[in-house]
Amino acid sequence: MTTRRKVKTAYFCSQCGAEHPKWQGQCRECQAWNTLIEERVTTRKSAPSRPAGARPTKISEITREERDGYISGIAELDRVLGGKVLPGMTVLLGGEPGIGKSTLLLQAAEAYSKAGLPVLYVTGEESLPQIKVRSQRLDVAGDNVTVINLTELNDIVSLIGTGDYAIVLIDSIQTVASEQFDSPPGTVGQIRESASQLIRAAKTEGCALYLVGHITKEGMIAGPKVLEHMVDTVIYFEGDSAHLYRILRVTKNRFGSVAEIGLFQMTSNGLAEVANPSSFFLTDSDQPQRTGAAVTGICEGNRPLLVEIQALVSSAAYGNPQRVAGGIDGKRLALLLAILEKRCGYPMGTQDVFVSVAGGLKLTEPSLDLAVMAAIVSSLENRPIGSGLLVLGEVGLSGELRGVTMIERRIAEASKLGYKTAVLPKSNLAQIGSTDMELIGVADLQTALDKILG
Ligand code: TYD
Ligand code: MG
Repeated sequence: MTTRRKVKTAYFCSQCGAEHPKWQGQCRECQAWNTLIEERVTTRKSAPSRPAGARPTKISEITREERDGYISGIAELDRVLGGKVLPGMTVLLGGEPGIGKSTLLLQAAEAYSKAGLPVLYVTGEESLPQIKVRSQRLDVAGDNVTVINLTELNDIVSLIGTGDYAIVLIDSIQTVASEQFDSPPGTVGQIRESASQLIRAAKTEGCALYLVGHITKEGMIAGPKVLEHMVDTVIYFEGDSAHLYRILRVTKNRFGSVAEIGLFQMTSNGLAEVANPSSFFLTDSDQPQRTGAAVTGICEGNRPLLVEIQALVSSAAYGNPQRVAGGIDGKRLALLLAILEKRCGYPMGTQDVFVSVAGGLKLTEPSLDLAVMAAIVSSLENRPIGSGLLVLGEVGLSGELRGVTMIERRIAEASKLGYKTAVLPKSNLAQIGSTDMELIGVADLQTALDKILG
């Protein structure tokens, strides 16, 4: 067979992966500006692109796959995957470096292995001794786990093609490269090509494929956005190295819900499932009454969690007062302070205000407005908020309280944890069935603050 080698320069969009023959300011596919990257591509017309064994088949002749999915047994992982991974399915696991992707993958490998499934772990990032050290730390026996340090795409594809493995883990897609491209691993062209070949091989063999993808500073999976379109499921690992919790969040799932999250805790022996998620973000305090701390209920996906919002207010020593928001949006905090000043007359303009979410969670829900404001006023006026009180509600510009979604779930969770009273938007009352909590429905901010601060 003759091979024709052709070297050319192409321009790939770093957002959507589209290829352009010439540089231009705007991508013609996704219309993004300044996203084209120059890469040298060597194309070789050689082997047929059809994987061995694949042939056209009549629908009536397709025999349904007998295997109906692989369950890892790590409940928090299975939950975000919609219960199980299916044969031929590809999962993209994204996350910042050091967040715990390789750790999760190795623990998943062990779990599948224990279930009797043969696992192939391809790493381009770590040496085998490094994997061994990690395995010992994680107590991974790995009886059915085959590990190989490999980065050449064709070799990996042939390994998958042996049909020996039910689960294939690639750590990471940025280290895989095909010799058909001149560009180094991690470039858009390489990632696009590697992913598409790996996905095809996994589909042909009916094995479940996990691809690890690193995230850039901008929070995107490094490489083309098109990667997300190619795979069946995208899960992101969130959290930060300063805190112990890790959240697995699913942003795309062809076979299940995207409203699920998985909650883990990083321990010295790897990732542990969190036993009691809804109280994980509460501080352990025996004080019955504290100033500057309010507890609210949020919904991460479908899952209710109670979190504590803490505030510290002190008079500004010089010039511009400071506003520091940890875990909530700084602009939202500025807005809430303006509402407190304008609608209720609290002198926020002369105060330094620090707000943080206990446990380091990052929250965007508007339903925590009232809790943030209650914590601030509690600290400002040194008036404590009683324990056992749940505070819920979005606050509008004119100081009105707006209802929150999934109210029943939040109330049920608080009740389960022994909370006795809830201050919440009046409009939510009708949506709550029976509960043993005392519900105080209020329509405006000032009344709510009076009820909360006693
Ligand atoms: P890792 O899985 O290597 O991250 P990624 O693959 O996403 O880059 O996780 C590395 C971090 O996790 C590192 O900072 C050490 C920490 N860690 C633990 O705290 N406990 C453990 O048991 C392991 C294996 C890692
Ligand atoms: Mg890693």
